[in-house]
Amino acid sequence: MTLSFKTSSPSSSRSTPKSIAGGDDSHFFHHSNKSTYRAHTTTLFLILLSLSFFGFFSLYSSPNVIYRAALFATTRPAKSGIVSYVINAQDSSNRRSNGPRRIRAEGVLWPGWEILVIVSPEEKVMPPLPGENYTCFYPNGEKSAARFAAVLPFTNRSAFRCGLPGIYRHHHPIPTPVFASSMSFPISPETRWPDLPLWNFVVFEAISTENDVVLFVKGPNRGLGSNRPPESFLCVFGDESDSAIKTPVTSSVQEVFRCPFPNVTIDTPVKIYLEAVVTGKDTAKTVPSVAYYTPKRRLAKPSEKSLLCATTMVFNVAKYLREWVMYHSTIGIRRFIIYDNGSDDELNDVVEVLKSEGYDVIKVLWIWPKTQEAGFSHAAVYGNDSCTWMMYLDVDEFLFSPAWDNRSKPSDQMIRSLLPSDQKSMIGQVSFKSYEFGPSNQTEHPRGGVTQGYTCRRVEEQRHKSIVRLSAVEHSLYTAIHHFGLKGEYEWRVADVEEGVVNHYKYQAWREFKAKFKRRVSAYVVDWTRVSNPKSRDRTPGLGFRPIEPEGWAQKFCEITDLRLKRLTRKWFGYPGKNGYRMVWQR
Ligand SMILES: *[C@@H]1O[C@H](CO)[C@@H](O)[C@H](O)[C@H]1NC(C)=O
Ligand SMILES: *[C@@H]1O[C@H](CO)[C@@H](O)[C@H](O)[C@H]1NC(C)=O
Ligand SMILES: *[C@@H]1O[C@H](CO)[C@@H](O)[C@H](O)[C@H]1NC(C)=O
Ligand SMILES: *[C@@H]1O[C@H](CO)[C@@H](O)[C@H](O)[C@H]1NC(C)=O
Ligand SMILES: *[C@@H]1O[C@H](CO)[C@@H](O)[C@H](O)[C@H]1NC(C)=O
Ligand SMILES: *[C@@H]1O[C@H](CO)[C@@H](O)[C@H](O)[C@H]1NC(C)=O
Ligand SMILES: *[C@@H]1O[C@H](CO)[C@@H](O)[C@H](O)[C@H]1NC(C)=O
Repeated sequence: MTLSFKTSSPSSSRSTPKSIAGGDDSHFFHHSNKSTYRAHTTTLFLILLSLSFFGFFSLYSSPNVIYRAALFATTRPAKSGIVSYVINAQDSSNRRSNGPRRIRAEGVLWPGWEILVIVSPEEKVMPPLPGENYTCFYPNGEKSAARFAAVLPFTNRSAFRCGLPGIYRHHHPIPTPVFASSMSFPISPETRWPDLPLWNFVVFEAISTENDVVLFVKGPNRGLGSNRPPESFLCVFGDESDSAIKTPVTSSVQEVFRCPFPNVTIDTPVKIYLEAVVTGKDTAKTVPSVAYYTPKRRLAKPSEKSLLCATTMVFNVAKYLREWVMYHSTIGIRRFIIYDNGSDDELNDVVEVLKSEGYDVIKVLWIWPKTQEAGFSHAAVYGNDSCTWMMYLDVDEFLFSPAWDNRSKPSDQMIRSLLPSDQKSMIGQVSFKSYEFGPSNQTEHPRGGVTQGYTCRRVEEQRHKSIVRLSAVEHSLYTAIHHFGLKGEYEWRVADVEEGVVNHYKYQAWREFKAKFKRRVSAYVVDWTRVSNPKSRDRTPGLGFRPIEPEGWAQKFCEITDLRLKRLTRKWFGYPGKNGYRMVWQR
């Protein structure tokens, strides 16, 4: 069985769910005729089958699935109608003085049949109050407990997660639950149940620049070469369809859309949508949204725009962060912008300790699944206020120059020295090749850190990582993770490996790799199981998709001993300890 989700029917992947505000459902389902109906049920069966095999991960890896599963399911005769009725408030003596409280919130269907409930900006639930039992209530009388997830950055909205009751998994549209601060809540028969946006079709984030707003949107553009022209969209500021203000979209690439500010002053956060422009007899379709436009605050004096910064996206890698930040800070990175895609390890503690030691580390919560490109584009805009150059590197990657070998001490000019020094230079991006290190006989995380423990690597140079001049980044914010698209007048330079190179501690001690492997399986399971992509560089040679230690793992990927960075870091960061030397990042 293959996970052939990509074979989408012509209408399904592009049909646009109506906006939360209104529209006509039936419109969508008339696309399917009898034969596609059969195909759909088969696909649905396969989807369900595959879900039971791969559970959450396959859903996760294929944004199409949720939407399509939900969409197709409704083409089957509905067994049970959904009836709204009143959930009686239980014993009213149990209520607190202010009683059960409905909290204004919106939601989005999340991978794993969960709803991410996001509290509206007008509410002040942040963080959740202890003793309150936040709950999602559904039209059929079912309810599910809401678990606090996070406070979203920029808008400070609290987010919770609720399980979606089984009956709604095969419904389209899915109703947005009522969210309340108690386990019982009276639902009036007049309650409206707006359609729940699905994660693969939603405006999920927005950030303002000096003169426009950048929207991050799942859905309209899928995959390479499928960017729809900007003219086919408008940005819509505000909820009221008749009074909403619209501006033209100036760029539509990947998940990033840009549009100028409206020319009226908006001083409170308003919902921002993306609307597909009406063509022919189509009715206007709006991509649902959980994003808000917040006007950029004018700074009294423009912030100093001179820093060399680094962005990385992390998930449960707190263990490595300290070494990575201390090393790169010492050789010249001034500010670290860490996009955290939902870590539940000790990341906050590590960040707080680093801050208390004087490192400039900013953590941005980026909970949106499988949106690394979008996150990097976001970072380019977010960092543009204070950073001239931005290095995009993972926390298991370390940049150095073999030419530093004879330096007895590190200096904060070292990374700068790898970038053009001439102010007028038109080089907009410098990329460095990487070398992939193997487990080097390690069986656990090396005490002195990755730079000390991993010393054996593959010979072949692997793909590059880049430091980009933020003012040179293309208006579209196009990124391929490893590099950005540049404005026409700028050049892209790839450094020679003798000038600068990235040590990528990719295949670590099995225990470490296994954890990373599990994370990657979630991101790549489709690739890993598809014969059509057997050479993907994201696959690990010799591995299937079970996290079982392959024989001889500790010796794998070891073709050449490379001690250069180990020696350098030991010289710069090592000091004598009780049992041999210690590294400054060891705690
Ligand atoms: C929440 O649940 C706990 C335990 O069931 C209960 O003691 C508490 O009173 C509840 N709080 C509210 C606000 O209903
Ligand atoms: C969000 O919270 C932070 C810190 O508490 C605050 O500085 C910021 O102004 C808040 N933003 C909004 C939009 O309320
Ligand atoms: C503001 O927008 C309206 C409608 O799009 C347009 O007619 C008007 O010229 C704009 N005004 C300015 C000052 O840009
Ligand atoms: C988190 O980011 C990593 C890249 O660092 C990516 O591989 C992974 O898929 C992301 N996970 C989520 C939850 O987005
Ligand atoms: C290190 O070597 C390079 C040439 O390999 C030389 O230009 C530089 O001056 C040397 N630096 C020191 C501190 O010896
Ligand atoms: C790993 O251990 C094997 C067997 O003891 C040895 O031959 C090899 O040199 C070691 N490799 C490294 C990188 O230490
Ligand atoms: C950064 O700001 C400059 C203007 O100061 C602008 O030209 C450039 O496009 C911006 N870059 C990004 C990535 O937003």
